[in-house]
Amino acid sequence: MNFKSDNVTGAAPEILAALTRANTGTLPSYGEDEITKRVGEKLKDIFETDLAAFPVATGSAANSLALAELTPPWGAVYCHPLSHIHTDECGAPEFFTHGAKLAPIDGPAGKFSAGTLAATLKGAGTGVVHHVQPAAVSVSQVTEAGTIYSLDELKAIAAVAHGAGLAVHMDGARFANALVALGCRPADMTWRAGIDVLSFGATKNGALAAEAVIFFDKKRAANFAFRRKRGGHLFSKMRFLSAQLDAYLDGDLWLKNARHANAMAAILADGLARLPGVGMTYPAQANEVFPSLPEPMIRGLEAAGFGFYRWSGQTVRLVTAYNTAEADARAFVAKAAELARAAAAD
Ligand SMILES: Cc1ncc(COP(=O)(O)O)c(C=O)c1O
Repeated sequence: MNFKSDNVTGAAPEILAALTRANTGTLPSYGEDEITKRVGEKLKDIFETDLAAFPVATGSAANSLALAELTPPWGAVYCHPLSHIHTDECGAPEFFTHGAKLAPIDGPAGKFSAGTLAATLKGAGTGVVHHVQPAAVSVSQVTEAGTIYSLDELKAIAAVAHGAGLAVHMDGARFANALVALGCRPADMTWRAGIDVLSFGATKNGALAAEAVIFFDKKRAANFAFRRKRGGHLFSKMRFLSAQLDAYLDGDLWLKNARHANAMAAILADGLARLPGVGMTYPAQANEVFPSLPEPMIRGLEAAGFGFYRWSGQTVRLVTAYNTAEADARAFVAKAAELARAAAAD
């Protein structure tokens, strides 16, 4: 029973079946195939707008290549200190942007506010040759703390960014989980809120390895095809990335999977929050739960074979996936309750 991440699990059967279906006959290479074209059309329907979509294989590539399109090498990209681009991509954003600077803006529960962004930009030294120049803002939706920006928060951040001439990127590695949690339309959480470029994740929600970089303003994508090729993500057998995305979007599989993952996280969060000595470090809003547990409970759960990350101090991270078994989530809560009772009896 492994709650370490949503990528410790395999790929959804619907997606594996689509790969097998795509494995017959010959098709044009390098994304000129009909499956890739179909994915582009489906995304236009889903996002209710014209757009340019580029499949890539990893979230780090999606983020780094997207940001490289939005900033010059002397630019600054504002992001939360916990953000994946800042902490978990081994400098890939700096590498692909040819040295742009990631400038962290702090805020509670993995989010920064429009107000903090505005204050930061005031002191950013725009036009001063000695300073990196504000170029882009990146928000993670779901955040690395398992929280979600509301539509109003996103709109406010984008308004400040656009007002200062910055582009807005969204790291949507868990886009579907945020979307179903907010219960809004994909367009509302992206271009209608002011998001210019989206890293649309699928891997964590059932794909084998597939993401898409989506530009809502096609003019911004003018050079992206070259950048993706140069970055090693123009797959010659692109049909296999696209077949995953095609099946992911088909029949709303992506939404169904995300709803399930979020529901399993809610079982964990609700069950744990009731136990004595347990707190929630961040509100559980999607498929990640960050409870603060007494040390003997952490040790007891580890000894019982449950997998999870120690986040910081007494806080652990539990992540659920599209195929997390309800029995596993309930077993985790039951074991934690048993450990809480044993501690109370001591
Ligand atoms: C918020 C976030 N963004 C992006 C990624 C994508 O990372 P990868 O390059 O491992 O696909 C992850 C994966 O952990 C993530 O959690």
